[in-house]
Formats: sequence, C-alpha cells, structure tokens
Amino acid sequence: MNNPSKPRRILSGMRPTGKLHLGNYYGALDNWVKLQEEYECYFFVADWHALTTEYDAPHAIGGYIQDMLVDWLSVGLDPERSTLFVQSAIPEHAELYLIFGMFTPVPWLERNPTYKDQVQELSHKDLSTYGFLGYPVLQAADILMYKAHGVPVGVDQVPHVEMTREIARRFNHFYRPIFPEPEALLTEVPKLTGIDGRKMSKSYGNCIYLSDSPEVMQKKVRQMITDTLRPYRKDPGEPNRCLAFPFHKLNLSEGRLAEIVAACRSAQLGCVECKNILAEALVENLAPMQARRQHIQRHPDTVQEILQAGNTRARAFARRTLDEVRDAIGFDLNYQLWT
Ligand code: TRP
Repeated sequence: MNNPSKPRRILSGMRPTGKLHLGNYYGALDNWVKLQEEYECYFFVADWHALTTEYDAPHAIGGYIQDMLVDWLSVGLDPERSTLFVQSAIPEHAELYLIFGMFTPVPWLERNPTYKDQVQELSHKDLSTYGFLGYPVLQAADILMYKAHGVPVGVDQVPHVEMTREIARRFNHFYRPIFPEPEALLTEVPKLTGIDGRKMSKSYGNCIYLSDSPEVMQKKVRQMITDTLRPYRKDPGEPNRCLAFPFHKLNLSEGRLAEIVAACRSAQLGCVECKNILAEALVENLAPMQARRQHIQRHPDTVQEILQAGNTRARAFARRTLDEVRDAIGFDLNYQLWT
C-alpha cells in the first residue's frame, strides 16, 4: 500500500473568481511552487466549481481563467514539471462526479460545515441548488481522478478532503479498490489582512494583486494601516499592532526584521519610512514574477499551448481512471450486444 505520510502525487485547484492577490500567493501558490520540486503535481482551474455560485453571471469566468493561468505561470508554476489544466476541458470529471453522486449520502453534504458557512456568507445568492450541495462530490472527483495522495489546501477545505476520503472508501468497498485515500496538506497560512485591516478580498477592494505594477504596490503599501495607538512619530510603536508587520515578516531577513522591530519600539523609525522599506523589499522579491509576467504577456500563444498540453496530459490520465472505474462497476462500453 502507499505510505500515506509520504505523498507522491499532489493535486490542487482554485476557483477562477478574479486576479490573484498576495493572500493567495502566501497562502497557497508559494507552497505549490515549492511542491513541484518534490512531487508530481496537478494544478487545475476549477471553473465548474466557480459556476456553482456564479451560475447566473458566468460571463466573467472565461477571463478569470486566463488571468489565473497568467498569474500561475508568473509565480513560477512550471508546465515542464506540473500539469496545469482547466476542469471543464476534462469531461471525465463530470462522469466521475455523476457516479460518485449515486452513493454519496445527502446527509454528508448537508452536514458539511463549509457548505453551511458559505450558504450563510453568500446569503444574497440562492444557493439552495443541487449543484452547490454537490460541490464536494465534484471536488472528490477532481482529486480521485488523478489518484492524488496529497491535496494542499487551506483549513476551510479540510472537510472536503475528508469527504473525498469517505467517497474513496465507499467506492473501494462497493466495487474494487482503485482509489488511494488522499490527505489534506495544510500549509501554514500567514495571517495577512488587506490594506484596510479587513480580510484581503476582491470584494473589499483592499488587495495587493500579483499583477499590480511596482508603483501601485508601493502606493498600496503606503496606505496600510499601522499601529493606531501610535499617533505621533515620536511615540514608540508596537509591530504586533501594525497591519504591515506580517508582510515585513514575509519579505525581510531575520536580521533586518529584528532591527525594524527595535527601531519601531524605540520610536527611531517612523511608519512612513518603515513602509517604504517594506515596499522596496516586496517589489524586489516579486521582481522575478514581474519579469516572467511581462514575458508571458508578450507571448500569449504560449499560454494557450501550455494549457492545451496540460489538458491533453490530464485527459489521458482521466480516461485511464474512467476505464478502470467503468470496469470496476461492470460497465463496459463495448457491450457488443448485437454480435
Ligand atoms: N474548493 C476549492 C476552493 O474553493 C477549489 C477546488 C475544487 C479544489 N476542486 C479541488 C481544491 C480539488 C483542491 C482539490 O478553494
């Protein structure tokens, strides 16, 4: 059997809901890029999952898919090492989802805490749909299709990976053991807020986007709210009350960080200057991404080719899995009833 503590194949996906920001980068992509070094990776754009909430206004999704691929390539997801694809280009996901739906008990779905949270949070939308309830079943199909051992996700997605394990177990039990039970690989997500102190989110307009120019990034960093209990430059400050500080931690060396902490607490360093230091470090750290982005934008055909190659590779895998699945259930497409 597979050693579950040593995942070999990794799969993860993101819903295309807009361009990616630093929260997405430090919370997920940064980790994906590192995982490529050790594992066989599959990363995909979950456009059908986006449709579960955007079914009444799907027109933007196409553009977001493109933006997402450009963001992914620019942060360093490497199509030579990882398979990058779009969910809806692999119709086998829909077939596997349908089959899993046959034996997934509805109470599992109704009890799902992420589902309950989302229905509440998005109360302006009618999410009392079959598709939204079945969201984790589709996600299980995404994961099990590629027999992934590890699924890097945030905590909110853990119930979905748990349900994927249960679906795998149920399939293996009813038919034939085909599917490994995947593990959620939780990444430590730094607590980053948007520049106004609320969660970094497109809908609040408080994001620093990966696609922002250095000038825009610098401007946004300058707008970050610092220690509100430090009204005057001469007052000592407290980094742990400063919204920019988590970004400092991610972008400065330990030595530099310690200097800044001391200089803030002793009022030697003012917030304006301190944020300039951050802005410079951030821009410098993201410079390789900016360069890759510019290259990609000059060669839009390459993105298309990369996607096509990824889709082809993913589809070949998906077809093999579906052949096994049909065979395990005893469905054979070549019935040859009439011969
Ligand atoms: N539900 C995930 C999210 O909202 C996206 C997703 C869809 C996913 N299918 C997946 C993540 C499979 C990991 C594996 O973030």
